[in-house]
Amino acid sequence: MRVFLIMSALFFSGCINSKEESTTITDPNDTSEMALLMRDMFERLEVIKDKIENNENLSEEQLSFASIHSQEATDSSFIKVGLVPMSEGYSRIINQFNNQPSKENYKSIVNSCINCHISMCPGPLERIDNLILR
Ligand code: HEC
Repeated sequence: MRVFLIMSALFFSGCINSKEESTTITDPNDTSEMALLMRDMFERLEVIKDKIENNENLSEEQLSFASIHSQEATDSSFIKVGLVPMSEGYSRIINQFNNQPSKENYKSIVNSCINCHISMCPGPLERIDNLILR
């Protein structure tokens, strides 16, 4: 039973099926605060990635996101364990980027997205992969 609940929580949150994201984007009503924050972060980082690839100056880039664990999630039951420390670690990495906006610190941010997603929410990993610098 417990496993079933966890599986359905993952499923409903889009944590397993990343392909559904593009269709759910047009319907913000059943999109959680946390999912909206994630989309916002993704878009901001895409812009920074473009700048890095075009050798543009990053020194004015500053990131400011609400803390992940303060957001309401699609389903709160499956994300509690470990979410807070990972979310705090992520905030520290964002601060590090703000203190020194650089390609290296951008990479640390993307690694931190990936680390949390590997353990909590693997569905969007395929999409986050687009943020990796090649
Ligand atoms: C502390 C853990 C954690 C970190 C760090 C994290 N995420 Fe997430 N992410 C989640 C969880 C949990 C969800 C599911 C949220 C929900 O459905 O309510 C999610 C959902 C998503 C989604 C799917 C949103 C949707 O449309 O349903 C995307 C895309 C995403 N994250 C990208 C990112 C990116 C990019 C980063 C780094 C900038 C990042 N995440 C960092 C935990 C994290």
